[in-house]
Amino acid sequence: MPAGTQMFSLSGKVALVTGGASGIGKAVAQAMALCGARAMIGSRTLEKVEGAVADIRRAVESEQPQRISDETEPVVAGISIDVTSDRSIEHAVDRTVDHFGHIDILVNSAGVMLRKPTFELSTEQFNDLYNTHVTGTLRCCQVAGRLMREQHSGSIINLASISSFVDLVEVAAYAAAKNAILGLTRSLANEWAKYGIRTNAVAPGFVPTDINRKMIEGTDRGRRILEHTPMARFGKAEEIAGAAVYLAGPAAGFVNGHCIVVDGGYLASGIGDSFAPWAQPD
Ligand SMILES: NC(=O)c1ccc[n+]([C@@H]2O[C@H](COP(=O)([O-])OP(=O)(O)OC[C@H]3O[C@@H](n4cnc5c(N)ncnc54)[C@H](OP(=O)(O)O)[C@@H]3O)[C@@H](O)[C@H]2O)c1
Repeated sequence: MPAGTQMFSLSGKVALVTGGASGIGKAVAQAMALCGARAMIGSRTLEKVEGAVADIRRAVESEQPQRISDETEPVVAGISIDVTSDRSIEHAVDRTVDHFGHIDILVNSAGVMLRKPTFELSTEQFNDLYNTHVTGTLRCCQVAGRLMREQHSGSIINLASISSFVDLVEVAAYAAAKNAILGLTRSLANEWAKYGIRTNAVAPGFVPTDINRKMIEGTDRGRRILEHTPMARFGKAEEIAGAAVYLAGPAAGFVNGHCIVVDGGYLASGIGDSFAPWAQPD
């Protein structure tokens, strides 16, 4: 068991990050790369993926220039992945292995959002969202998990949400999917530990990204969220990444089937009015 900062080192590890072209997935891939891993990032939009690869490479180069110049293989690479397609995932996993030799860490960060009153939500919309978040996560876990089973080691990190625990109003499809993510995480943790695979989740609080920026920045909903958050601010994608780095590495070697909530205290806040005007100290 490594000690000191080595407990958080991902040196020699390869991470595949779906949804890695933006937001939380990109921040996780960058943090993992800075902790020594090599990362394959993917989403459906190739230009976005290429931009994120360049950004992550620049970040590693500025902190660890020798790593970029010494490496015979790149620290980060990108690929187009659609998690709703079996073929696309198989192709992405094959390309990751061709490129980096193996896969040690899978981060399932691909996701979409839909806010709609539930009477107006079609079953097709519900199924589409579920297909991306839950079936997409399952597909990626199965394909990358087979490799992890062969090598008898691996760490899977799924993206849950505050809505895995409490209702966020008019996001029923998302809430159902994010609850299912926790069930899937526990199922794999229980079933695949014997193959050397640990499966955990991270539940971010409210982090303005492409998925939700319009819903929470400068809106009444956003104001109510901040009033309910003891730290009285939104999170940053980089602040979610630390939990994923921890779960991926040796420090979390005995952590399996859990979900780390990173939310500025939102879930702890109960009636949530510590920042309301009537609760302010004089
Ligand atoms: N931001 C938050 O406050 C928050 C809170 C809790 C949980 N989360 C979860 O965190 C994860 C990341 O979200 P984010 O906030 O980082 O949003 P984001 O920046 O929009 O990232 C989501 C990524 O998923 C990709 N994606 C969507 N559908 C895909 C598909 N079918 N196949 C492959 N990639 C796909 C998107 O790229 P393309 O469109 O190019 O495919 C995008 O890069 C999601 O699971 C989200 O539910 C976010």
